[in-house]
Amino acid sequence: MSNYHIKHLEEYFQVYRKSVRDPESFWEEVAEEHFMWRKKWDKVLSWDFSKPEVKWFEGAKLNITENCIDRHLTTRGDKTAIIFEPNNPEEEAEHITFRQLHERVCEFSNVLKDQGIKKGDRVCIYLPMIPELAISVLACARIGAIHSVVFAGFSSTALATRINDSDCKMVITSDGSYRGAKSIDLKGIVDDALENCPGVQTVLVAKRINSEIPMKKGRDKWLQPLLDNAYRDCVPEIMDAEDPLFILYTSGSTGKPKGMLHTTAGYMVYTAYTFKNVFQYKEEDVFWCTADIGWITGHSYIVYGPLANGATTVMFEGVPSYPDFGRFWEIIEKHKVNQFYTAPTAIRALAKENLEFVEKYDLSSIKVLGTVGEPINEEAWHWYNVNVGKKKSPIVDTWWQTETGGIMISPIPYATPTIPTYATLPLPGIQPALMDEQGNEIKGNQVDGRLCIKFPWPSMARTIWGNHQRYKDTYFSTYENKYFTGDGALRDEVGYYRITGRVDDVIIVSGHNLGTAPIEDAINEHPAVAESAIVGFPHDIKGSALYGYVILKETGESRDHNNLRKEINQIITEHIGPIAKLDKIQFTSGLPKTRSGKIMRRILRKIACNEMDNLGDTSTLLNPEIVQEIIDNKL
Ligand code: PRX
Repeated sequence: MSNYHIKHLEEYFQVYRKSVRDPESFWEEVAEEHFMWRKKWDKVLSWDFSKPEVKWFEGAKLNITENCIDRHLTTRGDKTAIIFEPNNPEEEAEHITFRQLHERVCEFSNVLKDQGIKKGDRVCIYLPMIPELAISVLACARIGAIHSVVFAGFSSTALATRINDSDCKMVITSDGSYRGAKSIDLKGIVDDALENCPGVQTVLVAKRINSEIPMKKGRDKWLQPLLDNAYRDCVPEIMDAEDPLFILYTSGSTGKPKGMLHTTAGYMVYTAYTFKNVFQYKEEDVFWCTADIGWITGHSYIVYGPLANGATTVMFEGVPSYPDFGRFWEIIEKHKVNQFYTAPTAIRALAKENLEFVEKYDLSSIKVLGTVGEPINEEAWHWYNVNVGKKKSPIVDTWWQTETGGIMISPIPYATPTIPTYATLPLPGIQPALMDEQGNEIKGNQVDGRLCIKFPWPSMARTIWGNHQRYKDTYFSTYENKYFTGDGALRDEVGYYRITGRVDDVIIVSGHNLGTAPIEDAINEHPAVAESAIVGFPHDIKGSALYGYVILKETGESRDHNNLRKEINQIITEHIGPIAKLDKIQFTSGLPKTRSGKIMRRILRKIACNEMDNLGDTSTLLNPEIVQEIIDNKL
């Protein structure tokens, strides 16, 4: 029996039991057999959730890019590592072999070094889904610089906050990006952001849309000429197992984003292991994850997990609706994709379109389908199963988080029987617990509670960049000695898990995590706004959409409300990005508050969801009369 590749259900149970009985020897075996170490570890695991402090493979030395690239060169040098599928289907796809990837990553690494980037420096990457994105991520990892990829849909304000929080010395961007029929002036967004980022010394600019853009002397440099002059080999920096690999920001319940810090060895081992098992990847397969590398899904399952297995991974620059709603299916046919991993929101959007868009294409290459990022509803699950999987490909509903680094709860295809809406069973090494509100673990089956993890796993985030206390408060203080996920879940009669959604102030819109606080902070910047509160309500395609309750100042009351709505959404777009725009904005004279002044979001949420007959006791509110006014004016 191999720990590394599970092939049937009985084997899963055996491996799972072993991983819980003796996690250290379990992970040690996985690490021993499947990776390239410059030096092996002295200790597999040390941990203390009360600090919290977790270390995996302490004492080991490695470079993750040697594992993702160099060690494949002898056996897979001519195998395609990355297939780049451009936004425009007329433009030819690019196939980058492992050998070419090695060369391009080495050149890029040398450019970074020439520009003064050293081990431990932070580099912000703000790029569209072009090969330079994956290559720059790997180049940072090769020289030991910490990459902080910011999704290129974020606004200049959001970008600046992230650059400053982790004190990045360099930004890597492009002249622009394509998104369907539109092109976007990315460099302009970077220029705006950098007005407020004194620490950035260099901006490297890749050419994508060939637009005329201003280049700031001494700061901005075209990437290509630098690459053309760089050596094609670069000795990798030898890293400690626990050296930081990257920072990735996620929303939190306060205004400031949390820079989750992931480290090297544990992240590598866990993403590689889960990639192999959850997608049952075989040597000749072509894997496609439609996420953007700006999110954790892209880090773990476009770049690191696949490449660590020597897999062929697809990077798609465009959107599912361009040039028409058949684009995903066309790409699957074109590249003979075997594993396809996407978000429920994309499935719902495509399911609304004419079936001909799917039926036109040959999808017979597909062996495994996956979803991630939010709960999938039954209807979308069935549509996916019937029309894309033709009822023969298992669907893996994978539950995990930016903080967890890799997939935590998921079926193993062809082993775990699937049920719509269930993420099913924990992967080996993952020990979930459901907790009640008093802090007790709820044992047994057919129960629901708050989802925690009670034992460390290799790819867990180690801290929040620059704010360890916040890391402790957010994840390790609600329940003693447990990592709290912020999600609710139920465990059914056979022990399958179903994730029921967030139990905190994070709302998931189209698979994107949005904290209510940063959006409210943005709205409150509007001069006519006195106060605001955001809640989620169900939406056909996005899963959840945002409903805002806004109290206007006297100056705002007399103004045209539709104009105000537009201005509020404009401010949100500027502060965060268009993904955080509100679908509905209701103006109100007050918000329901507790006697201690806290907004009762539960009531606002129920009103937005049309659950008026189920509001609970409102008599203890400071201002119970406001509830009726809000109901009467509901949009
Ligand atoms: O609420 C859960 C939801 O997405 C949150 C994590 O978001 P993020 O850090 O952006 O990472 C998304 C991609 C890994 C979780 O706390 N979530 C993620 N996957 C699922 C899910 N909810 C239900 N089912 C899932 N499969």
